[in-house]
Amino acid sequence: CGIVGYIGHREAYPIIMKGLQRLEYRGYDSAGIALYDGNQINMSKTKGKVEDLKNKSEKNIAVNGSLGMGHTRWATHGVPNDVNSHPHYSNSGNLVIIHNGIIENYEAIKTELSKRGYVFESDTDTEVLVNLIEEVKKKEKVKLGKAVQIALNQVVGAYAIAVFDKEKPDEIVVAKLGSPLAIGIGDREFFIASDASPFIEYTNNAVYLEDEEMAIIRPGKEIKLRKIKDDAVAYPMIQELQLNLEEIEKGGYDHFMLKEIYEQPRAIKDTYRGRLLVDQGIIKMSGIDDNLERFMNANRIIIVACGTSWHAGLVAEYIFEDLARIPVEVEYASEFRYRNPVITSKDVVIAISQSGETADTLAAIKLAKERGAFVFGVCNVVGSSIARETHAGAYTHAGPEIGVASTKAFTTQITILMMMALKLAKEKGELNESRYHEILSELENIPKKVEKALEANPLVEIIADVYKDSENCLYLGRGYNFPVALEGALKLKEISYIHAEGYPAAEMKHGPIALIDEQMPVIVIATKKGHYEKVVSNIQEIKTRKGKIIAIVTEGDTQVRELADHVIEVPEVLESLSPLVTTIPLQLLSYHIAVMRGCNVDQPRNLAKSVTVE
Ligand code: G6P
Repeated sequence: CGIVGYIGHREAYPIIMKGLQRLEYRGYDSAGIALYDGNQINMSKTKGKVEDLKNKSEKNIAVNGSLGMGHTRWATHGVPNDVNSHPHYSNSGNLVIIHNGIIENYEAIKTELSKRGYVFESDTDTEVLVNLIEEVKKKEKVKLGKAVQIALNQVVGAYAIAVFDKEKPDEIVVAKLGSPLAIGIGDREFFIASDASPFIEYTNNAVYLEDEEMAIIRPGKEIKLRKIKDDAVAYPMIQELQLNLEEIEKGGYDHFMLKEIYEQPRAIKDTYRGRLLVDQGIIKMSGIDDNLERFMNANRIIIVACGTSWHAGLVAEYIFEDLARIPVEVEYASEFRYRNPVITSKDVVIAISQSGETADTLAAIKLAKERGAFVFGVCNVVGSSIARETHAGAYTHAGPEIGVASTKAFTTQITILMMMALKLAKEKGELNESRYHEILSELENIPKKVEKALEANPLVEIIADVYKDSENCLYLGRGYNFPVALEGALKLKEISYIHAEGYPAAEMKHGPIALIDEQMPVIVIATKKGHYEKVVSNIQEIKTRKGKIIAIVTEGDTQVRELADHVIEVPEVLESLSPLVTTIPLQLLSYHIAVMRGCNVDQPRNLAKSVTVE
């Protein structure tokens, strides 16, 4: 979910609406807004998108007031409908709340409150929380801030909340545990949001709440933080934001996803800029330099991640084992954290996350730390929870990724992981000089090769048109390109809702081959390096069963061209770096198919960009 709030001297409505639109990538099942002009609270909520909310609000409520807050929801408790949308009132109608996260013990609290006469309109955990705050306020005869604090000490779960009280028109109370919350500091005004994008045009100064911190925000007063547990005062670290507006807008592209696909040459360059010094044969990464001993003494590396980041982890497994000869295990964070894994202080855990907020990955990190492992983060969002929670790390610097289907995050994660592996391989003496230098300069050339791969776009669009009505799709790859096949299939599933599976090409004969008939498009990564002949045999097997073959091949290939129904060429590149180029046509293919099917590419149904619930 995404939350946004404003308190100050301007009209809150336009700030909140625009902010919600920027946060829509975090969830878009339903949306709501509450505005307070000092006399009356006006609330409007709807199932659907922020655009629907805008239409509904402007028709039905007075949209004035300089205190307001809004919410765009990714449903956890209760189906997405008008009633379950946030904000929620307390029973008296005096308190209003927005919440991102989950209150796990809400059933028990709800039962208690019901006994005391509270009634609930919605099925949400959030409505329970706001009434708990109301009950505390009444019973303990305390002000809003104190009531929020006491109530939060009774709940189990994750939250970023903002609450206001009709009796206090100059105050918003916010608190955080698990889900992100940023406060933008203006001149006699404050902004609240799940990330800084809603307020970047108003202020560059922001405070990110730490877990278990809360703040009472009053325009004209300095911001004060305190601990939810024990009242201790925390000092706000005011950060100067680097984001610019252009980066979070579409810049002429139809969709954020397409913009982000095309940004990859630039993004990869930004990832290695200042780190990859090819002339000197050095890779500079302070997160590794400062902790070299931990890496050199590591028995193994465990990679934890979810979704696309997990696929980048799989590519890293090939890279680290091949180049640096360090054993690697790649784990879904959600499985790792719940299966009592064997971890020792000799293990290095690498957590990969674009958003740096994924709840399962965060929990996996905490577990690994408890058991003494050294935890290294690979995040895109600067200052994110994972970046703060890890012992050391490296940012990908890809710039904001807004499209829900991850693209540039994937390639920049691979870029970072490649640099890490190369650096460790060199330190360990596992790579001979010439191979080391060869990979180094190839990495520097990758942005150009990605640009070249993007030139296939018009052809990919034609192929997309042929297969847009397919119901199933198979993606095959081997070695370094097996994870690329998985990622290709995930991209198609996510945004076009076509069922797709990624498989190691050779494993096809142990099952998926049964699915192949003349209806089945099979996308095969068949580039020159890396088991080429074996993949050609796999293509023969598909052809014999009349499957339709779309092959990703190396420029100038003739052998596969004879067998395949379509070929898409990518430039020749070292095998270990090939995922960075072979993944490009797969991103474009799913993009075009989704657009042709009329799907909402940037906001696919049921998905959210950053999943801050487990
Ligand atoms: C969600 C997103 C995916 C992403 C995954 C992990 O499912 O829709 O695109 O790969 O979360 O997110 P993270 O921010 O941790 O990389």
